[in-house]
Amino acid sequence: HELQMSLEQIEKGGYEHFMLKEIHEQPKAITDTFRGRMLAEENIIKMSSIEDNLDKFLNADRVIIVACGTSWHAGLVAEYLIEDMARIPVEVEYASEFRYRNPIITEKDVVIAISQSGETADTLAAVKLAKSKGAFVYGVCNVVGSSIARETHSGAYTHAGPEIGVASTKAFTTQITVFTLLALKLGKANKSLSDVAFENYIKKMQLIPKQIEKLLEIDEHVKSIAAVYKDATNCLYLGRGFNFPVALEGALKLKEISYIHAEGYPAAEMKHGPIALIDENMPIFVIATNKGHYEKVVSNIQEIKSRAGKIIAVVTEGDIQVKEIADHVIEIPDTEEALTPLLTTIPFQLLSYHIAVLLDRNVDQPRNLAKSVTVE
Ligand code: G6P
Repeated sequence: HELQMSLEQIEKGGYEHFMLKEIHEQPKAITDTFRGRMLAEENIIKMSSIEDNLDKFLNADRVIIVACGTSWHAGLVAEYLIEDMARIPVEVEYASEFRYRNPIITEKDVVIAISQSGETADTLAAVKLAKSKGAFVYGVCNVVGSSIARETHSGAYTHAGPEIGVASTKAFTTQITVFTLLALKLGKANKSLSDVAFENYIKKMQLIPKQIEKLLEIDEHVKSIAAVYKDATNCLYLGRGFNFPVALEGALKLKEISYIHAEGYPAAEMKHGPIALIDENMPIFVIATNKGHYEKVVSNIQEIKSRAGKIIAVVTEGDIQVKEIADHVIEIPDTEEALTPLLTTIPFQLLSYHIAVLLDRNVDQPRNLAKSVTVE
């Protein structure tokens, strides 16, 4: 038993939990996902799985993304990326809903399944259904040789390495990385993106791993915020555009490991319901990066303030306006709006982690959850 304990210590590489180790591995995991694909010097993205099937992607009527859990959130980010950069219509579906609702799928659809484990039963069933209807099916998996990776026609692996913590962290950011590369590649191929825009994105993408490294230094600051809000019973996460799915993922992370009830919402939808919940006991985490509908999010923050809600805002370095209103701010480095999910996700991962630790939860193996759900 002692031997087993020390083996686990070694595997955790000096971190107290796998989740924290995996959060800190993200700069490397993203770099590994870039490797051989993003050739920054030459300004090219090389992805043979796209090149070999380029006509299928470019002639597709639409892309349908199927996934569950955190991977579904990555799918929502992918929708914003692909529609913005490549102008191809995208729909994102829960695999469990898709497979049972007699969906319309044709040979002109490209179906993309996202799965860390590559074993999620509903996602695998959705892949088989799409194949049987003649769609081209592409997989974005982390586990090499997994069922979904084998069942799909083609795909791209995320190179996150093994993810042990049940709450997904580096799998999520590497999924977003793959989709950013894919969207850039398609946008360049069908000329939706100008050469100048493409080059600029590559330059900014290349900075992301170092920016995350720097961002991880805010750990103590996030921990102090966690200490203030650890006893909350309800939390709200708000974001718009590319950061709306990040709000959903932030809320999911908190639910999963701290068992605190949390909801993610598109910021503008707050007034259609959740605003009724706001009082002085309600912490509200708002993503207010400088380029994404900033002024509109600021007015959402003012609405929260006037109802005495506690505001924890994720802002871009150098922000002045939100700092004046929010109770706490967390700064992220500047980048293009489309790339911000790779940065805004990080503080929410750390926040959930610290709250769960302070509440003495089982961080790596939360109650009732499984890393891979191979049954319906
Ligand atoms: C489980 C895990 C989640 C994960 C989801 C989908 O619920 O606890 O972390 O996001 O399954 O898993 P997949 O392996 O398909 O990405």
